[in-house]
Amino acid sequence: MSKLPSRPTYLEVDLLHLKQNLENIKAYVKPAKVMAVLKANAYGHGVDGVAPFLAPFADYIGLALVEEGIHLRKLGIHNPILILGGSLPYQVPLFIKNDLILAASTPELLETADNLAHLARKKLKVHLKIDTGMERIGVHDYEAEPFLEKSLSCSHLEIEGIFSHFANSEVPNLIHAKLQLERFEEVLYFYEKRSIPHPPIRHMANSGAILQFPESHYDMVRPGVMLYGVYPGREVKRTIEVKPALTWHSKVAYSKITNPGRPVSYGSLWQSDRPTRVLTIPCGYADGYFRTMTNKAEVIVNGKKYPQVGRICMDQFMVNLSEDEAQVGDEVILLGEAEAGERITPEELAEWAGTNEYEVMTNISARVPRVFVQE
Ligand SMILES: Cc1ncc(COP(=O)(O)O)c(C=O)c1O
Repeated sequence: MSKLPSRPTYLEVDLLHLKQNLENIKAYVKPAKVMAVLKANAYGHGVDGVAPFLAPFADYIGLALVEEGIHLRKLGIHNPILILGGSLPYQVPLFIKNDLILAASTPELLETADNLAHLARKKLKVHLKIDTGMERIGVHDYEAEPFLEKSLSCSHLEIEGIFSHFANSEVPNLIHAKLQLERFEEVLYFYEKRSIPHPPIRHMANSGAILQFPESHYDMVRPGVMLYGVYPGREVKRTIEVKPALTWHSKVAYSKITNPGRPVSYGSLWQSDRPTRVLTIPCGYADGYFRTMTNKAEVIVNGKKYPQVGRICMDQFMVNLSEDEAQVGDEVILLGEAEAGERITPEELAEWAGTNEYEVMTNISARVPRVFVQE
C-alpha cells in the first residue's frame, strides 16, 4: 500500500477489483465494446487514481460533464470520451478543443456543433441521444426522424454513435425496458429505410441491462455501478460476478465512559441506561457519512460490529461499545471488509441512510483521502 494519509479517515480503493470487474463485463458482452462510466469522481472512488489505471482496459470512457472530460485530458487520458449529460451550446468549443464526444440531444445543439466545428476547421464527434422513455434528455423517439435527417447534412460532424438510456433495467419485470428497446429499433429503422448505414456505435445498456437484457447490448455497453462491484438493484439477476472495491477506514479518536442521564450528541437522541463505553470517530456527514443514518448505522471496531449512537455530526460521530474496550487509534471500518471477516456493504449503508448505493458512494466527499492499492 502507498503511504497512508495523515487523516485517520480515508478510503482504500482496490484497483485490481475494478480491473477484474471490467474484464468480467468485457468477457460477458463480447464482441460489444465497453464504455467505463467514470463520472462523479468514478462513482466516488477517486477518478485521479481510477482513470489512469482503468483507461488502458476500456474502449470508451463515459462522463457526465464536459469539465470532467477536460480533467481527464489533463490527466493524460487518451481514450475516446463521451459526455453523457446534457450540454449547453456555449460549451461546444470545449468539446472541440479537448477532443471530447458530444451527446447531441436537440436539433439546435447539433446545428451549433456543426457551425462551430466548421469555424474551428475540425471534425467534432457526436453521438445522437434518443429519449425512448427516460424523459430526461434526448430527442423523443417519435420526433427522431427530422433529427436524424438533419444529422446527415452536418458535414463538420462525425456521427459516430446513436444511443438511449433505460429507466427500468434493473427490475425483474423488463416490460418498460423492452418497450424502450422497441422504440429504439424503430428509430434505427430510419437508416434501413434509406439503405444507409446506421452510426457505427449503437448503445443503450447500463448495468441492469448488461446483466439481464442481452438484446440491448448492441455495439457498446455502458457499465457504471457494477464496474465498482455493486449490483444496480436488490432483485437484479447477477449474471456477471463483480466485487466491491472500497474500504472506508477510520480510527478511534476518543474513548470514554458515558453515564446514564448524559445523552449523546446534538438533540440528545440517545442515552445509555448504565455506564457504557462510547467512542468518537473522526468522520461525519461532511465526509458523506449520512446524518440520516443516526442511531441506525453500524461500524466495525477491532473486527467486531457496534451500533452508531447519537446524532451524526458534521465531522464526528459516536459508537456504543457497551462493555467492550477500545483505545484511541484502534481500527474502525465504516464500509468494506475487516480482516477478521466482518463486513459492511454499500447496500447496508444505503438502507440505513434511506438512499441507494449510488448515492452512498458518490457522496464520499473530496476531503476523505483516497488510497489506491493494487496488491
Ligand atoms: C447515460 C448513462 N449511461 C450509463 C450509466 C451507468 O449506469 P449504471 O451505473 O446503472 O450502470 C449512467 C448512469 O447513471 C448514465 O446516466
